[in-house]
Amino acid sequence: MDMEHLKTQFQDATRQCTSALVGHPTQTMAEQLQSLAQYAMKFSARDVYGSGALIRDLELRVATLFNMPDALYLPSGTLAQPIALKLWSEEKGSTRFAMHGTCHIELHEQQGYKALYGLDAVLIGSIDRVPTVIDLEAIDGKIAAIVLELPMREIGGQLPSWQELVAMSDWARSRDIAFHLDGARIWQCTAYFNRPIHDIVALFDSVYVSLYKDVGAISGALLLASPEFIAKATVWARRAGGNVVTAYPSLLSAHKGLDENVGALSGASEAAQWLAAWCNQQPNTHTVPTQPHTTMFHLFIDVSPEVVLSRCIQWMAQHNVALLPMVRPYATGCKFEINLGWNIQAHERAWWVSKLENLWELLLSPE
Ligand SMILES: Cc1ncc(COP(=O)(O)O)c(C=O)c1O
Repeated sequence: MDMEHLKTQFQDATRQCTSALVGHPTQTMAEQLQSLAQYAMKFSARDVYGSGALIRDLELRVATLFNMPDALYLPSGTLAQPIALKLWSEEKGSTRFAMHGTCHIELHEQQGYKALYGLDAVLIGSIDRVPTVIDLEAIDGKIAAIVLELPMREIGGQLPSWQELVAMSDWARSRDIAFHLDGARIWQCTAYFNRPIHDIVALFDSVYVSLYKDVGAISGALLLASPEFIAKATVWARRAGGNVVTAYPSLLSAHKGLDENVGALSGASEAAQWLAAWCNQQPNTHTVPTQPHTTMFHLFIDVSPEVVLSRCIQWMAQHNVALLPMVRPYATGCKFEINLGWNIQAHERAWWVSKLENLWELLLSPE
């Protein structure tokens, strides 16, 4: 069977499962809309072109939580971050900004920063590790901004130490360079730094946070910065088609997700440590990082993707439990992005271990 077919079967089998190890519980579209219909009673009217209590309450709710002066709701992070970089470019007088080579802006946005906003990127550090002040020192020529992603998704959610993070922020600010946070998953970072979110974001001049990842909204993002910056970002959002007539399903789900989901993340950080330790004790299996910094890590199993997919499909049909997310092919076998939320809390650790042992026995058995 070809990979595409196997992937479809894997997704179908995952949907049939009654327990899942990774993420938050998922709802069907119908279930989600039904629960949002109840929740919507809390608000009297939908948002209209970025105004109204539903959208403004959300912006101010997160701005208050982050202790940032203002926030703007945008339909996507792919819109929010280039807008922030365009504004820093105008303010600082340079079209250049620096980022790590694994940034979403570099890997997954078709160079929108260049094609749409006329900006140029300088890539810093090395692809498999968190950047440091030494990497910033190596930047040649003037730059307007530095983008730092916390946690760094493409390297398993790694983070710099608090001292290194403060040093990078000081380095940028002392040179009048804006420090921008890609905080798509910033909610995951508090346990590692042992600090509230507002202490972390205080090191940055502008912040993007995703509403649909750890928060569990349908979609959406927030850009947080000074009121003057947000006023200019609102103009760019209008120009770029990001000021939509209404985003109420997304906004309602973001409010609901903030009520319900963010609380899972401190427990999920500890669970990620436990699960990675278990994985690292299995043959042909390892995680990056070895000890997770956040609620996520990357899992590597040295077995071919075809074998893993077909065996997982067979195993899920028998057990009704989804342990692994979709596979990504990797040089020596398979790579998985493990990201924990509420789901792991649904069963005792011993229950998960018995399932994990059972699946690993099948995955690693000879072909
Ligand atoms: C680290 C990071 N930054 C930015 C984005 C872009 O977010 P959006 O899908 O809302 O455009 C993503 C999306 O996966 C991401 O993982």
